[in-house]
Amino acid sequence: MERHIYEHKHKVTREDRSRIKGHKPFALWFTGLSGSGKSTLANEVEYILNKKYRVHTYLLDGDNIRKGLNRDLGFSQRDREENIRRISEVVRLFVDAGLVVLTAFISPYRKDRAFARSLLNEGEFIEIYVKAPLEVCESRDPKGLYKKARAGEIKQFTGIDDPYEEPENPEIVVGTDKLSVEESVDVILGYLLKNGYIKSEV
Ligand code: ADX
Repeated sequence: MERHIYEHKHKVTREDRSRIKGHKPFALWFTGLSGSGKSTLANEVEYILNKKYRVHTYLLDGDNIRKGLNRDLGFSQRDREENIRRISEVVRLFVDAGLVVLTAFISPYRKDRAFARSLLNEGEFIEIYVKAPLEVCESRDPKGLYKKARAGEIKQFTGIDDPYEEPENPEIVVGTDKLSVEESVDVILGYLLKNGYIKSEV
């Protein structure tokens, strides 16, 4: 089908927007099992970026997005793919707007994360594998969902009867079964400082 859609070139470019912000735009993509600590870490990192580094951030979080933009989606492979596709497009818009966007989604499929990466420029997509063994996530069970999944009340639960494909080449790995929240946050901020994404505190 021919769709007759033509892209407009706007006068204000992403460089213009970025200059006003005074920092680079990029995405921090947290991936990992439910209960691994994605939301906790994304929250803490966002807080520090906002307060100490004066970075214009925005956090997209699984449970929130699934209540609004993606409330029509479930957890089949197709729906998870569509979930991540839409989020990826939103991330692209936010990064184009000049922001630092943090996402906290299980995003269990490699090809869906690769799609998210493909929408951004080289170096703008930072994949953070929030790594903890299933047993640890299950023992934390902050929402009581693993218990329900084991009892068969929730089907297709990631790690129980649905797959999680580990990242092969993430920019950052944080082992949250070994590191404290503060230590994990330090690893992430250390990476951003070392690689010039942010400059020392202002
Ligand atoms: S994703 O797989 O499509 O990336 P997403 O991060 O948006 O998942 O949502 C995961 C959250 O939904 C979990 O933290 C949990 O609270 C809830 N949830 C409900 N059902 C499931 C399920 N079958 N598998 C995983 N998470 C589920």
